Amino acid sequence: MVDTLVLPAAGALTERDIAPDLDLVAEIDRLRREKNAVILAHYYQDGEIQDLADFVGDSLDLSRKAAATTADMIVFCGVRFMGEVAKIVSPTKTVVIPDAEAGCSLEDSCQPNAFRHFRRRHPDHVAVTYINCSAEVKALSDVIVTSSNAETIIRQLPADRPILFAPDRHLGAYLARKTGRDMTLWPGTCIVHETFSERELIKLKTRHPNAKVAAHPECPEAILNHADHVGSTRAILEFVTASPAEEFIIATEPHIIHQMEKAVPHKRFMRAPGADGSCDCANCPFMAKNTLEKVYLCMMNAAPRIEIPEDLRVRAWQPLQRMLDMSAPIPVARNAAE
Ligand code: 13P
Ligand code: SF4
Repeated sequence: MVDTLVLPAAGALTERDIAPDLDLVAEIDRLRREKNAVILAHYYQDGEIQDLADFVGDSLDLSRKAAATTADMIVFCGVRFMGEVAKIVSPTKTVVIPDAEAGCSLEDSCQPNAFRHFRRRHPDHVAVTYINCSAEVKALSDVIVTSSNAETIIRQLPADRPILFAPDRHLGAYLARKTGRDMTLWPGTCIVHETFSERELIKLKTRHPNAKVAAHPECPEAILNHADHVGSTRAILEFVTASPAEEFIIATEPHIIHQMEKAVPHKRFMRAPGADGSCDCANCPFMAKNTLEKVYLCMMNAAPRIEIPEDLRVRAWQPLQRMLDMSAPIPVARNAAE
């Protein structure tokens, strides 16, 4: 098995080489023009990275943007599998990521060999795989989904075919409940969405009876049972923007609140609490690896750079392209800075 490579740069600049008075935002802007780069950011990135990105979105929006861009360089501010998706759909572009160590607990939970055995044990099943996985696992799947298109895609699959869903068991269980489909689930979880406490959420709701709860489907069922709205990051953002309510409890990674406060500054957003009642439990440690300094350095160094062996890329691209073909038409992007 040949893995995706994240190439470092020989003789690369490091954080020690950055002058303390350097205007990083201005320098990133200069490099963006000089290198004909597009900066894509996920909603879980720090506000300062979201603010300088050309486009901020959920996993589906970002995949579509990466497939459609005319830029020479894609700077992907998210986690590593997102950069891989950009390279899979745009192989002629240079794809850089700020930190090669920005992984994902879902990807880690689902190693290619174990997934291959899982498929072999269920030969009559359709393998529907969440985009939060490696290129190798994508290549072993029939169709990729994100949290915003999974239900639409599953409803298009032949009703008599059982489904294997990997790697997020909470998202899979939510989709099985919604669609009534027979689904065998891989036992992975997102470490961020597992931290919310039902008991503390009920206490917070009691103190704020008018607050609406918006939750990501990576949350366990006990949390989703209290939600007024369940959806992808973009769907949650659209819900809080359109809702007449003034107060919201947000059960997903809290950096998305940055966009909510920009979109509807008069509304109040509370983070869903963890078991100790504190609301700082849900920061994604992988997303947090990216900093403005590292965005600047990855553009300067053209590294860490994603490279994928062509046969693996083509095999991973097929189920990803199937996803793009089976998704609902693109909605109007709410946070496009382009
Ligand atoms: P979406 O932005 O597609 O909802 O994904 C959430 C997530 O956990 C990304 O890692
Ligand atoms: Fe992975 Fe969860 Fe972090 Fe998203 S929030 S990158 S699913 S660990």
